[in-house]
Amino acid sequence: VQRLNETLFRMQRSLSHAERLALAGRIMAEVAHEVGTPLHSIAGHVELLRRDLAATGPSGPERRLTVIETQLQRVIEIISRLLDLARRDQGPPALVNVSRLVEETAELVHPAMTEAGLSLKIAGDPMLPPVLGVATQLQQVVLNLLTNAIDASPPGGVIEVTTAERAEQDEVTVTVRDAGPGIAPEHARRIFEPFFSTKPPGKGTGLGLVIAAQIVKDHRGRLDVESTPGAGSTFRIVLPVSRT
Ligand SMILES: Nc1ncnc2c1ncn2[C@@H]1O[C@H](COP(=O)(O)OP(=O)(O)OP(=O)(O)O)[C@@H](O)[C@H]1O
Ligand SMILES: [Mg+2]
Repeated sequence: VQRLNETLFRMQRSLSHAERLALAGRIMAEVAHEVGTPLHSIAGHVELLRRDLAATGPSGPERRLTVIETQLQRVIEIISRLLDLARRDQGPPALVNVSRLVEETAELVHPAMTEAGLSLKIAGDPMLPPVLGVATQLQQVVLNLLTNAIDASPPGGVIEVTTAERAEQDEVTVTVRDAGPGIAPEHARRIFEPFFSTKPPGKGTGLGLVIAAQIVKDHRGRLDVESTPGAGSTFRIVLPVSRT
């Protein structure tokens, strides 16, 4: 039965390969557009820098170098997130204890949270049934949601991560809740679009949720979001239980 499940999982993955290619095409088209903006900005400022230097204006060149650095950083980030997406670990699926995975992922974000003055409350179900999946990929999903929650949290905020079983649906859920500003209704539909980000350049590439949603879909699960503007956001990963 386990081998059958693994085969099914692999078949499902190869089916979604076509979808992934379609997504890659769509992303590439947007990359051309997105990367073009900072590159044009850089080219413009290099040109102005040349003129500033000719006229030896004192503060101009430094300001332009700052803009150039920021824009270059943005290009570097976009490219590196895309490489992550392309290079995604294709390791064999295995039984994953999602509660333990959440604990391990929390370790990774601990320093960032402390630095931001935030605290993390984990309520993991110790009896959670396993899911069949690629642990590193699922960890990437939890990490992306936690990163967003950290970015959204006000100082002193609490982020809650809960794992639970939905026995009737044969599903497990991972819920990441923050007490941030929530998602504006006009943004709600766009947050899963590649490169949609409300964060300042250098802070967000707008690829985190695209990657998360794709991975969850590869695992035959779904990624739900509930948000009340002013009252925080809740992202929920829903994954099928592995019955092996
Ligand atoms: N927990 C949250 N609270 C409020 N807004 C959120 C939250 N999570 C996501 N968003 C909104 O969705 C947008 C897209 O999120 P996503 O993770 O895809 O990109 P990003 O965080 O901006 O950049 P990246 O993840 O690539 O570094 C964010 O810019 C933000 O506007
Ligand atoms: Mg993000």
